[in-house]
Amino acid sequence: MKQHSLKISLIITLIMMLMAAYSAHSQEEDVKTVEDDAFTEQMRPIVPFLHDEHNEIAEIAECGVCHHVYDDNGLLSEDETSEESQCSECHLPAKSKDKTELIKYYHNQCKNCHLQRNAGPIMCAECHVK
Ligand code: HEC
Ligand code: HEC
Ligand code: HEC
Ligand code: HEC
Repeated sequence: MKQHSLKISLIITLIMMLMAAYSAHSQEEDVKTVEDDAFTEQMRPIVPFLHDEHNEIAEIAECGVCHHVYDDNGLLSEDETSEESQCSECHLPAKSKDKTELIKYYHNQCKNCHLQRNAGPIMCAECHVK
């Protein structure tokens, strides 16, 4: 009898651990497009971006490749990441209406890597899919 309830509590613990792992993971799994709140009026179609799938096929293991943090000396931090912030939180000068810089930062991050690796879209309509 005692052994039986021990088994049940073990199973319950296991299920709870699986659920916790799943909800931590599904947070980023939900990202299917890039939709920065700073772009209140979209001039181009929304960019599809299957977050986890993209990073898997592109073989990018480090979150900081995109969600980077720079230290006070302007050097890329090796152990900090910024996935809790949208890019505009750092790349849009305070309440600026001019989004040119922010657009450039997005394009540089996405396109430069695609160019470097000679893989992934680089033409407007390949990313801004109608
Ligand atoms: C190739 C670039 C890239 C890599 C690598 C990457 N991400 Fe992201 N991530 C993005 C972009 C782009 C968004 C969408 C931002 C938006 O829409 O504002 C995003 C969104 C997120 C979000 C949602 C944030 C929100 O505001 O809801 C989380 C969480 C996240 N990423 C976590 C991670 C983790 C954890 C890793 C590493 C395992 C990772 N990302 C690797 C580009 C990347
Ligand atoms: C916590 C603040 C912060 C966040 C969030 C952030 N960045 Fe940056 N980023 C910086 C700083 C600081 C630099 C270095 C100074 C500069 O180039 O403006 C930088 C540099 C860059 C550069 C030029 C150097 C390089 O790595 O190629 C690009 C492109 C870039 N960021 C794009 C992005 C994109 C796209 C996102 C969102 C996925 C993002 N950044 C999120 C702070 C941030
Ligand atoms: C560090 C490198 C890197 C960065 C940064 C990066 N990509 Fe990619 N991306 C790749 C590679 C490599 C491929 C090709 C993967 C393959 O098909 O083998 C790719 C493929 C793609 C594809 C086609 C495959 C798919 O997932 O549908 C899209 C769309 C794409 N990238 C969008 C983006 C966007 C949008 C950003 C910026 C938010 C971005 N990428 C940032 C490396 C990168
Ligand atoms: C590699 C993918 C990629 C390519 C190629 C690309 N873009 Fe983007 N672009 C993005 C991403 C990601 C954003 C941020 C989108 C967001 O958060 O809504 C963006 C944002 C923009 C925005 C601001 C948001 C809006 O819709 O008003 C404009 C304008 C824009 N791009 C125009 C262009 C033009 C013009 C080209 C071709 C010269 C181009 N893009 C090529 C990925 C790309």
